[in-house]
Amino acid sequence: MKEQLATIRAQALAAFDAAQDSAALDALRVQYLGKKGELTAVLKQMGKLSPEERPAMGALANEVRAALEDALERRSQQLEEQALERRLAKETVDVTIPGKPVKMGHRHPMYIALDELKEVFIGMGFTVLDGPEIELAQLNFDRLNAGEGHPSRDWSDTFYFDEDSRVMLRSQTSPMQVRAMDSMPLPIRIIAPGRVYRKDEVDATHSPMFHQVEGMVIDKGVTMADLKGTLNTVVEQLYGKGTKTRFRPHHFPFTEPSCEMDVQCHKCGGLGCPTCKGEGWIELLGAGMIHPKVLEMSGIDPNVYSGWAFGIGLERTAMRRFKIADLRLIFENDVRFLEQF
Ligand code: DAH
Repeated sequence: MKEQLATIRAQALAAFDAAQDSAALDALRVQYLGKKGELTAVLKQMGKLSPEERPAMGALANEVRAALEDALERRSQQLEEQALERRLAKETVDVTIPGKPVKMGHRHPMYIALDELKEVFIGMGFTVLDGPEIELAQLNFDRLNAGEGHPSRDWSDTFYFDEDSRVMLRSQTSPMQVRAMDSMPLPIRIIAPGRVYRKDEVDATHSPMFHQVEGMVIDKGVTMADLKGTLNTVVEQLYGKGTKTRFRPHHFPFTEPSCEMDVQCHKCGGLGCPTCKGEGWIELLGAGMIHPKVLEMSGIDPNVYSGWAFGIGLERTAMRRFKIADLRLIFENDVRFLEQF
């Protein structure tokens, strides 16, 4: 029996060492230490021994069991460690592989023009507002003094959502004037950039969707001189010191007096060339002193407060800034075009 135990021990230890994975090791555990295992088979013969022999043999058997269990445990750990090392080796990141270059985009030329404009106005203490593109006709027209029958309310010009022409895609950013007057404490200094929509066919200078930036100042004692001074400063910052402007009378329902502002052509310096269509001047924006009725409709007393406003087309500003000849290029998002800015 002693020899049997010694053999089992030697064989088992050798087999454990040779096992190459935990499944094989587990099979060996069953083979040697399981209920029907070889060691158990030997122990079952203990009954045949004399009472004198039994304690020593029992002790030896226990020692062998303990040795086998120990060896199993050690080998099991070894195998686990090896498996882990193999996995880590397989998953190692090769830091020497060159990375895939990340192609960085950049700002769209129109947003470059917008950011420049914002920068100038923020520097003068204006707040930038954002507002809805789906607007009430009441704010887009009525509250801006363009009542029933005003030509711009026509279905052929404006995208309405309902038969009663009450909800529409805003046709201008000017309703932001009303939203500002209704929600902000006086004095007010805001600009409001955003999309506007009109039923225009697409061509080199028109699109049914385009962008405007609205601007408005309301305070006590504000005059046309402030309007001209502010807009001249903006133009000089955008187009360089000494850039000349001129103000021509115009008509808008929500301003009185109203004007359009031109800048002197940057190409020919006012002599007349193809860029300015021989005029020497390029139209830049509409502006004017806020109509007293518009102030009144917003609960502002026109005898105490006055204000001015302007609206500028953003695509046109960008086209002039970057000498882009066709409006469609701005919206087509052709990277060969966009990469140039
Ligand atoms: N909303 C006008 C348009 O779309 C532009 C405009 C003109 C805005 C005069 C103004 C303004 O704020 O005072 O043609």
